[in-house]
Amino acid sequence: MEKVVSLCKRRGFIFQSSDIYGGLSNTWDYGPFGVELKNNLKSSWWKANVYAREDVFGIDAAILMHPKVWQASGHVKNFFDLKSDCKSCKKRFKSADLKDKDKCPECGGQLTESRPFNLMFETHQGPVEDAANLIYLRPETAQGMFVNFLNILDTKHPKLPFGLAQIGKAFRNEITPGNFTFRTREFEQMEIEYFVHPDEADKFFAYWVEERFNWYLKLGLKKENLRKRPHTKDELAHYAKSCTDIEYNFAFGTSTALSADGERSRTTGWSELEGIANRTNFDLEQHEKFSGKDFKYFNDTTKEKFYPYIIEPSGGVDRSVLAFLADAYFEEKVHPRTNLNKAADKQEIGAGVKDDTRVVLKLHQDLAPTKVAVLPLLKNRPQIVELAKRILGDLKKSFVTVYDDTAAIGKLYRRQDEVGTLYCVTVDVQSLEDKQVTIRDRDTMLQDRVGIDRLKEYLLEKLV
Ligand code: GAP
Repeated sequence: MEKVVSLCKRRGFIFQSSDIYGGLSNTWDYGPFGVELKNNLKSSWWKANVYAREDVFGIDAAILMHPKVWQASGHVKNFFDLKSDCKSCKKRFKSADLKDKDKCPECGGQLTESRPFNLMFETHQGPVEDAANLIYLRPETAQGMFVNFLNILDTKHPKLPFGLAQIGKAFRNEITPGNFTFRTREFEQMEIEYFVHPDEADKFFAYWVEERFNWYLKLGLKKENLRKRPHTKDELAHYAKSCTDIEYNFAFGTSTALSADGERSRTTGWSELEGIANRTNFDLEQHEKFSGKDFKYFNDTTKEKFYPYIIEPSGGVDRSVLAFLADAYFEEKVHPRTNLNKAADKQEIGAGVKDDTRVVLKLHQDLAPTKVAVLPLLKNRPQIVELAKRILGDLKKSFVTVYDDTAAIGKLYRRQDEVGTLYCVTVDVQSLEDKQVTIRDRDTMLQDRVGIDRLKEYLLEKLV
């Protein structure tokens, strides 16, 4: 994981927030490659869960909501962690993480008794800072969908089962953030609230667990690094009847898992990417109680009126980005394939490259921040540069394409490998005559010679 973190900082995927002021701890900014990767991830999720379906509608609710929302949802009363403070060094700890409840793990000082600590960030709306104006930064995007349930019924007239999908920021004043972007106080969620008949809740719960698990696999996470973990009864959130986490085997972290004999054991590495919960009718009943509006669904065929149950797949954008980065990171020895192509071998382990190991991010093509790089073999030959720039302009219309001429070709390849660029198009002296370019594949490092007039078509075939 240290290598991935170092790559993220070195190549502009993720930076420490407010770095020039010493940084705001556990807060991160996504740089040029990071934002592309994150946007690609979100758009893959949106395509799979909204565009590819007929029964899920997208929404984008405000972060600031009426304070009654959080009373109705139970967050004001129940959304807390137990914490203890050290009387000597004043550090604060999550009680669940403490082995010795009395002794500070940092300085050995005495700890206070554990007390509840609400995780919601508070602020005030308007210029007057009093209790009447207290509002919260949302700790989950979910409530924005529940409070719009009636608007959707009125405008889209959907039949059950149907869902709402949303991607957006959430905020939690975590006591122990850490592990890079894994646990932060500001993060992004991708959530679906899927409304079903109560009799079908178990069926759709199982369906969404599979659906969401397979989404991670389809986008390239290795099967051996992914697992499903059903929650034990005492782990369930106050609103949930059942919940299964999709966990990734990060090279850090702890997770509670049931061992064969039913005892809980700590296993390192496995940590939550997404939780799929059966929230029952809790949220709709609560919003009816607090708002006075009728949240029941009327089935005009059976004439039945009832509160739908809600199945909620709730994933973290930042955690997923981190998992996809970790999973795609490879260090490989580059072996000469002299029997294949001597010139190509020289570029891979000769021109501008000192060692024979390459770092490569083998990100799925839908996620790769850059699809194509155009590289002139000789930057001091104006005709080559001119042709390369012309190709760049053409390709940019169809693919995220970059240009680089700041090093020898071997080094340029390595740079593109490190950020996961799928194809490198090299323009050389020969290109001026035969109107062909070399295309190098990131994963195989094999090279193809392709006519410039067929280049776009060639890439489109590869990048479907
Ligand atoms: N609406 C249900 C809900 O919010 P959750 O398990 O608390 O459920 C869902 O959060 C997902 O949001 C988690 O699986 C995780 O990926 C992400 N998440 C939660 N807290 C986070 C944090 N402090 N930092 C980064 N991601 C977080």
